[in-house]
Amino acid sequence: MKEKLEQLKKAALDALGTVDISAALESLRVKYLGKKGEITAILKQMGSLSAEERPVIGQLANQIRVEIEEAIAKKGAELTARSMTERLISETVDVTIPGKEFPVGRRHPMTVVLDEAKEIFIGMGFSIAEGPEVELSAYDFDRLNIPSGHPAREWTDTFYITGDERVHLRCQTSPVQVRVMETQKPPIRIISPGRVYRKDEVDASHSPMFHQIEGLVVDHGVTMGDLKGTLNLLVSKLYGENTKTRFRPHHFPFTEPSCEVDVQCVVCGGSGCRTCKNSGWIELLGSGVVHPKVLAGCGIDPDEYSGFAFGIGVERMTMLRFGIDDMRLLFENDVRFLKQF
Ligand code: DAH
Repeated sequence: MKEKLEQLKKAALDALGTVDISAALESLRVKYLGKKGEITAILKQMGSLSAEERPVIGQLANQIRVEIEEAIAKKGAELTARSMTERLISETVDVTIPGKEFPVGRRHPMTVVLDEAKEIFIGMGFSIAEGPEVELSAYDFDRLNIPSGHPAREWTDTFYITGDERVHLRCQTSPVQVRVMETQKPPIRIISPGRVYRKDEVDASHSPMFHQIEGLVVDHGVTMGDLKGTLNLLVSKLYGENTKTRFRPHHFPFTEPSCEVDVQCVVCGGSGCRTCKNSGWIELLGSGVVHPKVLAGCGIDPDEYSGFAFGIGVERMTMLRFGIDDMRLLFENDVRFLKQF
């Protein structure tokens, strides 16, 4: 029996030497030390031994059991350490490898300029108002003093939504003036950027959808001088301190007097080029002193209050800002173009 035990020990330790995964280690443990294992089997036969032999064999069996247990535990620790090392090696991240470059989008040039303009106006105490793109003709025409028969009301110019000409896609942001004046009391100082729609063919300077920024100031004693000061500040901030402006008399039904404002051509500096059609000037916006009829129609007493208003083309403003000579570039979304801003 003693010999058998020694053989068992040797067999177990030999087998242990060849084990290299923890599953095999566990079956080895079961084989030798488990309830139905080989050592247990031997211990069960102890009853047939003599009284002198029993303690000797018992002690040896226990000693061998402990030895095998310790050897298994040691092997287990080795296997765990080895698999941890292997995992660490296989999961190593090389932090020095350069990362993959993600394409980062940019703001559209019109958004850039619109944001600049908003900042400038907010700095002058303006707030931002909004109005609907699907507008009542009452707001876009009637209450802006635009008479029936005016070319802007033609079906060839305006996208009507109802056959009775009551509703259309707004052709300017000016109706926001009326919406603001009928809900707010002076002093009023707002800008309202947004989309407008006209039945224009697409070319280098036209698009059936484009953007405007409407501006409106109403208070006691507002004059044309305030209009000039405000717009000159806008131009000098957008295009540089020394950019000249020119206020040209014009006609709009909702302002009296009215003017268009030109900016000295930023491409040629005023000497004349293709962009400014050799005039040295580029038209930027329409403006004027709010017509008393428009004020009165919104419940504002024209004898007490006066105001000025303006409407700027955002595409035009952007093209001037970056020297872009074709409006279509702003709508085509060609990444090679957009990347430059
Ligand atoms: N709504 C005009 C247009 O689309 C621009 C304009 C001119 C707006 C004069 C105004 C203004 O507020 O006072 O051509």
